[in-house]
Amino acid sequence: MRKKFVAGNWKMNTTPEQGVELVKNILRSIGHSCASANYIVCPPFTHLSEIVKVARGTAIRIGAQNCAEESKGAYTGEVSAEMIAATGASYVILGHSERRQYYGETSDGLNKKMRQTYSNGLVPIYCVGETLEERESGKLWDVVKAQVEEVVFHLSEVEFRHLIVAYEPVWAIGTGKVATAAQAQEMHAFIRKVLTAKFGDLAAKTPILYGGSVKPENAAEIFAMEDVDGGLVGGASLNAADFLAIGDGFRED
Ligand code: 13P
Repeated sequence: MRKKFVAGNWKMNTTPEQGVELVKNILRSIGHSCASANYIVCPPFTHLSEIVKVARGTAIRIGAQNCAEESKGAYTGEVSAEMIAATGASYVILGHSERRQYYGETSDGLNKKMRQTYSNGLVPIYCVGETLEERESGKLWDVVKAQVEEVVFHLSEVEFRHLIVAYEPVWAIGTGKVATAAQAQEMHAFIRKVLTAKFGDLAAKTPILYGGSVKPENAAEIFAMEDVDGGLVGGASLNAADFLAIGDGFRED
């Protein structure tokens, strides 16, 4: 059986104080949750250290939302994977569509970020997904396949064992338009097939999370799909009750 994850991507939201409060609220209720999912929260860089401290020894793990391509030096404004690992965080979201779209992230840069992530013992949550135009023109399969092949295919087998993939159709992010469970399953199965072509049976173990307008009301139906191993949650992860209710989507497991 594959590991199940519910990861919260806070994006550029919350002050450090609000972030600490949010994690404390999650921790207050997590004991009552019977969910079988592993919870990860990904706050902005400025709160990482503080939130790692609050979450130490609990069921919540912490991740960053990005890291630098280089290891150190004259790169004003960048935050290295080594710095992230030193806070005690364990995960890094890489290749989110907002970063591809607004900050011009390409496979070349993402390969460098992957190198940094693994050399510092962090686990990447690698995001892929098509735009609405790409879906409507039928290019979705080629687009997602390329995003997977151009980056994940450069990993060693050992690295691949420590990879989480997130399928986030761009048209479903922050729009309230969630992919149907069938659309998610179809793409997740396709991604697993692409991964299997390179890594064989190891791909059966890779967690593939769905992201895009995941809410307590739709989580259980999407998570029930065979190849959906959890969610990468934006907006709804900023509310402790909603975030935990999404994890409860795994109760039936
Ligand atoms: P929303 O859940 O707000 O649609 O965001 C999804 C996302 O981009 C998570 O990384």
